[in-house]
Amino acid sequence: MTVTVATGNAGKVREIAAALADLDWELRPLQGVPMPEETGATYEENAALKACTVALVTRTAALADDSGIEVEALNGEPGIYSARFGGLGSDLERNLYLLEKLRGHANRRAKFVSVVILAQPSGQVETYRGELSGTLLEAPRGEGGFGYDPLFVPDGQTRTLAEMSVAEKQAISHRGKALAALKTAKRGN
Ligand code: IMP
Repeated sequence: MTVTVATGNAGKVREIAAALADLDWELRPLQGVPMPEETGATYEENAALKACTVALVTRTAALADDSGIEVEALNGEPGIYSARFGGLGSDLERNLYLLEKLRGHANRRAKFVSVVILAQPSGQVETYRGELSGTLLEAPRGEGGFGYDPLFVPDGQTRTLAEMSVAEKQAISHRGKALAALKTAKRGN
């Protein structure tokens, strides 16, 4: 099956390609397809918007991830708005903005959520979800990963996600879990 990966986020592309490497799928990068505005109210709605638009335009199956970080002390913010938190333009700026918002808060608990949708040009849609709970540090640590990875230590770990290899992150992450569920469904085991 040919599957277009409906994201321009290089970090996501890396993780999706690694997770699905052992499936017999031809993964195609998103090229020249304008992505829709993410107007949904949930991860599911935004992932469906992206996957269905790309499936319709490319006439191939399309895989989209919509994800975010939910911070307890901020009542679940930024959630679906994680990519545009504070209206800022870079991961580093958003990390510093998050640290500023959390200054003085004892509760550093947070969770990542990923919803992965595989859409067919026929309109058929499959949805998979994964979550990862952990704690936010007071300063970034590590050079790997993307987004809020340098601030996030998963439960049961001592390193941040940015201090792990793609494979190590994949084995425990929200996206890794959603993609593992997709693989299980596709393999029928
Ligand atoms: P989306 O493109 O609207 O799904 O944006 C997802 C945003 O959530 C990313 O740009 C990151 O800021 C954040 N995010 C999602 N997954 C991860 C992850 O695995 N690590 C770090 N940040 C993530």
